[in-house]
Amino acid sequence: MKEVPEGEMIRVDLGGKEVLVARVGERVYVTDVWCTHEEGDLSLGLLEGDVVRCPLHGARFRIADGSVVEGPEGEPPEAIPSLKTYRVKVLGDEVYIEEE
Ligand code: FES
Repeated sequence: MKEVPEGEMIRVDLGGKEVLVARVGERVYVTDVWCTHEEGDLSLGLLEGDVVRCPLHGARFRIADGSVVEGPEGEPPEAIPSLKTYRVKVLGDEVYIEEE
């Protein structure tokens, strides 16, 4: 967990599956790393509180539940599917995930 400083996010390869690991305060969130619009790499986007902004067309997702806050290029949230999230368990310094 210390690999992810507070307020930042990283891309992690879990043996072929890549996820986004973000830390907001003391909480750690894990979601798919690829944007549901055109597969922008969300780890290269911006984390604003608990909302990640895609670097390609600016879609925004709430990382706690994957909901779309804003679609690409200002489109309504319904324009794209929500982001897959994973249940997270933090034990000491290790982060474990479970598919929901
Ligand atoms: S690829 Fe993410 S908004 Fe287009």
